[in-house]
Amino acid sequence: MKFFIDSADIEEIRKAKSYGIVDGVTTNPSLIAKIGTERDETVKDILAESDWPVSIEVISTDTEGMLKEAYEIAKLGKNAVVKIPMTLEGLAAVKELSAKGVKTNVTLIFSANQALLAAKVGANYVSPFIGRLDDKGEDGMQLVRDIVQIYRNYGFETEVLVASIRSKEHVLQAALTGAHVSTVPMKVLEELAKHELTDAGLAKFLEDWKNRKK
Ligand code: E4P
Repeated sequence: MKFFIDSADIEEIRKAKSYGIVDGVTTNPSLIAKIGTERDETVKDILAESDWPVSIEVISTDTEGMLKEAYEIAKLGKNAVVKIPMTLEGLAAVKELSAKGVKTNVTLIFSANQALLAAKVGANYVSPFIGRLDDKGEDGMQLVRDIVQIYRNYGFETEVLVASIRSKEHVLQAALTGAHVSTVPMKVLEELAKHELTDAGLAKFLEDWKNRKK
């Protein structure tokens, strides 16, 4: 399973890169708004940081506006992936972008039917938001299982990018479904490497080494 970092903070992205365990970046308008600079300015540095795919979301909600923005985003770097919201207008935009070879990520997926439609129009990625479903008392991971199964049934090449991940457990469950990608906030990424027995074991090894017979 690939790991993407869900962040628009270049310092955080550089730190994640230094660990050698990340394969891409996802941003969204809320994450970019937190940085406080214009979208294209923020993503320019992120795109230049590596050849990782970087998802950058359009703000327009009509097909024509989304297409205009998408072509501008695609020009920012060859690793740019245009993030399009899951609406009928968005699907029409993805259909054209896919025909033109522009990479897309259909975002705000909350049902398997939505994911099926996104795959039909040729999306490269779909982003089911599992944490937000869990917040509503639903089972977000069941949505991922359903999408993975449907894509297998029909041989779709669209990658399932599990989004809105809140915990290590989400990552484990996503991997068990066979989803292609998990996009994670920095905090979860760092927690994945940790275990209390690893810390305790390392402390003991170091102590025994310090007290060895000389
Ligand atoms: C993914 O592409 C989204 O940016 C993100 O995972 C949303 O997560 P949230 O529900 O924690 O905002």
